Amino acid sequence: MYPMLNLYYRKRGIDMAKTIIFGQQKGGVGKTTDTCMTALVAALVKMHKVLVIDIDLQANATAFLSKSFNLEKIPKTIMAALEDGDLGSSIIELNSNLHLIPSGYDMRLYTEFLTENFNNTKDRTFYLKKLLSKIENNYDYIFIDVPPSTDLKVDNAMVCCDYLVVVQETQQFSFEGSQRLIFDYVQTLVDDFGSQVPIQIAGVLPALLQQKRPMHQKLVEETIETFGRDNVFNTIIQNHARLQWYARLGFKFEDYHDKKMIALFADIFEELEQRIKLFEDEGDVTNYLYQPLYSLTQSKLTNLGKELNVNGFN
Ligand SMILES: Nc1ncnc2c1ncn2[C@@H]1O[C@H](COP(=O)(O)OP(=O)(O)OP(=O)(O)O)[C@@H](O)[C@H]1O
Ligand SMILES: [Mg+2]
Repeated sequence: MYPMLNLYYRKRGIDMAKTIIFGQQKGGVGKTTDTCMTALVAALVKMHKVLVIDIDLQANATAFLSKSFNLEKIPKTIMAALEDGDLGSSIIELNSNLHLIPSGYDMRLYTEFLTENFNNTKDRTFYLKKLLSKIENNYDYIFIDVPPSTDLKVDNAMVCCDYLVVVQETQQFSFEGSQRLIFDYVQTLVDDFGSQVPIQIAGVLPALLQQKRPMHQKLVEETIETFGRDNVFNTIIQNHARLQWYARLGFKFEDYHDKKMIALFADIFEELEQRIKLFEDEGDVTNYLYQPLYSLTQSKLTNLGKELNVNGFN
């Protein structure tokens, strides 16, 4: 059990943008896929105003969303916008509800840019947050896609984060990655900067990316034992070949499998919103178990799930 999961609590105004990060120090656990799919649902199913910010020089979120919205060219990268001191100048409107600040390989220059332009750690660490504060009020949700590292670039994103979803691929390296992320990395940021880092762990999201089905239940139980029932999402991400197709070809909404993917991420977003509400109203999540609204454990859709539509993709 880890009571420290509740690192910091701040009562936020209901109309403030909430910044969400899907984090994990281990690579390839689905952070980018989960970020893009949850953002899609928030914007095009739940009709919130959503901004996705890609700070990873791999630019996987940029590629995923570009393909999904047939965007051929990136007019201006986040790095160019950071150099100009104006994040707004790189915003791409994928849809009236879904905006993207794209990344590119030039993002490798960001750490050098910060060290050259700012003398102290605080100014370097809070530069993205300072620029984000000028545009965040245009959005309900801001999702930042981060690389699997812990450097100054990720620090810049983490200090903007209100709610961190720890993506936990259920295997040993990922357990260690989650624990390091929470207890070493995030705790150190909170220790260093105190209340200027508003981060709250929203929960640990189990992801079962391997195909070995008989082990699944055991691995999920292990995650719950390690982090505590209240701290683990009841919605679980299983291995879905369809999500790999989206990475290659972009999101599509054409058949029953697409609807199942939307239902899965609608449950993840719904559970995330419920968890956020509990933190904001009650300060903690206790004795809570999310009841799925859109898809049942056997990945059958509920009636609500069958009715889901994706604005702009129907
Ligand atoms: N639930 C899933 N089922 C099957 N494949 C998945 C699932 N989620 C992600 N993938 C695939 O796994 C690979 C890694 O996913 P993704 O890029 O989202 O991970 P990541 O954690 O962002 O990686 P990185 O650490 O490099 O940023 C991709 O090929 C993606 O299509
Ligand atoms: Mg990624």
